[in-house]
Amino acid sequence: MVGQEEQSRNKGAYLPFFDAVPRSWSVYTLLFFGVFLILLCSLLFDVRTLPSTFLLHATNQLGAFRGHAGKNFVHLNGVDERTMRKEVNKTSARTSGEEIMKDFTTDDANCDYSTGQWVYDESYPLYKSDTCPFVDEGFRCIENGRPSDKYQKYRWQPFGCTIPRFDPIYMLENLRGRRLAFVGDSLGRNEWESLLCMLSDTVTNKSRIYEIHGEPITKHKGFLSFKFEEYNCTVEYYRSTNLVEQSRAPSYSSVRVNSTFKLDRIDHFARKWRDADILIFNSGHWWTDEKTFKKGNYFQLKDEIRMEMKVEDAFRIAIRTIAMYLDENIDSNRTQVFWRGYAPVHFKDGTWETEGTCVDSEPSNITSYQEPWYKYNEIIWEETQKYKKTPMIFLNITFASDHRADGHPSNYSTSSSSNSSTSDCSHWCLPGVPDTWNEFLYAALLNTSQWPWAEKHK
Ligand SMILES: *[C@@H]1O[C@H](CO)[C@@H](O)[C@H](O)[C@H]1NC(C)=O
Ligand SMILES: *[C@@H]1O[C@H](CO)[C@@H](O)[C@H](O)[C@H]1NC(C)=O
Ligand SMILES: *[C@@H]1O[C@H](CO)[C@@H](O)[C@H](O)[C@H]1NC(C)=O
Ligand SMILES: *[C@@H]1O[C@H](CO)[C@@H](O)[C@H](O)[C@H]1NC(C)=O
Ligand SMILES: *[C@@H]1O[C@H](CO)[C@@H](O)[C@H](O)[C@H]1NC(C)=O
Ligand SMILES: *[C@@H]1O[C@H](CO)[C@@H](O)[C@H](O)[C@H]1NC(C)=O
Ligand SMILES: *[C@@H]1O[C@H](CO)[C@@H](O)[C@H](O)[C@H]1NC(C)=O
Ligand SMILES: *[C@@H]1O[C@H](CO)[C@@H](O)[C@H](O)[C@H]1NC(C)=O
Ligand SMILES: *[C@@H]1O[C@H](CO)[C@@H](O)[C@H](O)[C@H]1NC(C)=O
Ligand SMILES: *[C@@H]1O[C@H](CO)[C@@H](O)[C@H](O)[C@H]1NC(C)=O
Repeated sequence: MVGQEEQSRNKGAYLPFFDAVPRSWSVYTLLFFGVFLILLCSLLFDVRTLPSTFLLHATNQLGAFRGHAGKNFVHLNGVDERTMRKEVNKTSARTSGEEIMKDFTTDDANCDYSTGQWVYDESYPLYKSDTCPFVDEGFRCIENGRPSDKYQKYRWQPFGCTIPRFDPIYMLENLRGRRLAFVGDSLGRNEWESLLCMLSDTVTNKSRIYEIHGEPITKHKGFLSFKFEEYNCTVEYYRSTNLVEQSRAPSYSSVRVNSTFKLDRIDHFARKWRDADILIFNSGHWWTDEKTFKKGNYFQLKDEIRMEMKVEDAFRIAIRTIAMYLDENIDSNRTQVFWRGYAPVHFKDGTWETEGTCVDSEPSNITSYQEPWYKYNEIIWEETQKYKKTPMIFLNITFASDHRADGHPSNYSTSSSSNSSTSDCSHWCLPGVPDTWNEFLYAALLNTSQWPWAEKHK
C-alpha cells in the first residue's frame, strides 16, 4: 500500500542496493531459487556472462523502482489504467518486493520511448532553478520573468510503459569514481546543466560540487568539468559544435573560404573525453547552410576543399568519422556511448521574431514527422548502429520534444530582455524538456548490461 513503508533516507549510511532489497521472506525464497537457477544455467550456457548479466538486470530493476515519497499525480490525460496504476505505485512510497519481482516479467525493456504524450504531473519538476547554481542565465526563464511555471510540470509518458523515475542518489552511486561527458553544441550544454541540477538536488552542501579548474559556468573555454566530491565523479561538457576539426583555410583555397571543417579529422578535444565512462554526443544545429558555407566555412576531405558538397552529405561523413574513431579508440568494456537525437526548434510560426510566440501555454499535438530534423536522426542512426565492438545507443528524444514549443526561453532568455526583438526558440528553459532527455539517458543506462557499475566498483 502507498505510504506503508515510510521512506527514511539516511544519507550517511546509504547502501544503493541493499536499501531496496525486498523485505518479505517469500521474495527471499524466490531470490534463492533465482540464484539456484542461474547457477544451473551457467553450467549449461556461457559461464562467464550469463549470471552477471541476469543479476545486474535484477539489481537494475530494484534501482528503477525505488521511488520518492509523497509525490502523486493530479491528472493523467488519456493514459491507460494499467500504466497509471504502475506509475502511482512507482512514484509513491517504496514499492514492495512482490511488485518488483512481478515487474521483472513485464516487457518495459522493449518499450519504445520515442512515441507517447506529455502528461501534466504535479510531482515535477525534479529540481528548482533557484536552488541549482549550475543553470545559465539564458535558461532561467522564471527568474527572467516568465510568469507561469506550468511548462515545468509535464512528464513524458510513452505509450505502453513508463520511464523509471530518475533517482539521483542511485545514479551518483553508480557514477562513483567515474566520468560522464557530454560532447556537442549548446544543446548538449543545455542537457548537461540539466543533469548537474538533477544530480545535485540531493547534495545538501553545494560547495562540494565544483568546477575542477575553478572556471565559472557562464564563461568557459571549450570545456567544463564538475566534480561531485562525495562521489568522486565528474560530469563534463565539451563544446564541439560540429564534432570534427575546424581550421583556417589552406593557402591554396579560394578567397571565399574562411575556414574548413575537416570531415575526416576528429575535434582535438577527443583525447580529453575519450576515456570517460559515459559519453553523450549531440550535433546538428551547426550543420546548416547559414552556419557553414554562407559564413565561408567549407568542407574539406584530406587536402581537397569540396566547395560543392551539400551540408547533409558532409554531416553524414562527419558522423561516420566520429563513429569509426570511437570504435577504434575507446575501451568499449568501460565506455558506453550515447547519441542524443536532434533537438527541435520552434521558429516556424513566422511571428516569433517580433512577438516571441514560441511560448505556447501547453504542449501541442504533433501528427507528422516531416520536419528536417528527422533526417539528422536517420543519418546518426545509420552511421552509428553498425558497430559490434562499440554499441552506441540512440536516444530518440525528437518527437517528444517536438510537442514542446512551450518549453523554450523565447523572450525570457535574459533578465533584461523585455524589449529585445530576438527570441530563443532553440534552447530550453530549465527545469524543463532536457530533464526528460536525461530521464531517457537514465532509463537507457538501467537497461545496459554494464549497469549498475556500483556493484563492480566495490
Ligand atoms: C500497488 O501495489 C500493490 C502491491 O504492492 C497493489 O496491491 C496495489 O493494488 C497497487 N496500487 C494500485 C493503485 O494499484
Ligand atoms: C533495452 O535494451 C534492449 C537490448 O539492447 C533494447 O532492444 C531495448 O530497446 C532497450 N530498451 C530501452 C527502453 O532502452
Ligand atoms: C577517484 O576516481 C578516480 C578515477 O576517476 C580514481 O583514480 C581515484 O583513485 C578515486 N579517488 C578516490 C579517493 O577514491
Ligand atoms: C561544505 O563543504 C565545504 C567544502 O568541503 C566545507 O568547507 C564547508 O564547511 C561545508 N559546509 C557545511 C555546512 O558542511
Ligand atoms: C573565419 O574563421 C575563423 C576561424 O578560423 C573565425 O574565428 C572567424 O570568425 C571567421 N570569420 C568569418 C567572417 O566567418
Ligand atoms: C572486453 O572484455 C572481454 C572479456 O573480458 C575481452 O575479451 C575483450 O578483449 C575486452 N575488450 C577490450 C577492447 O578490452
Ligand atoms: C491534443 O489531443 C488531445 C486528445 O486528442 C486533446 O484532448 C487535446 O486537447 C489536444 N491538445 C491540443 C493543444 O490541441
Ligand atoms: C525517432 O522517433 C520517431 C517517433 O517515434 C520516429 O518516427 C523516428 O523514425 C525515430 N528515428 C529513429 C532514427 O529511430
Ligand atoms: C514575451 O512575449 C509575450 C508574447 O508575445 C508577451 O506577452 C510578453 O509580454 C513578453 N515578455 C516580456 C518580458 O517582454
Ligand atoms: C523598454 O522600452 C520602453 C519603451 O520603449 C522603455 O521605457 C523601457 O525602459 C525599456 N526597458 C528596457 C529594460 O530596456
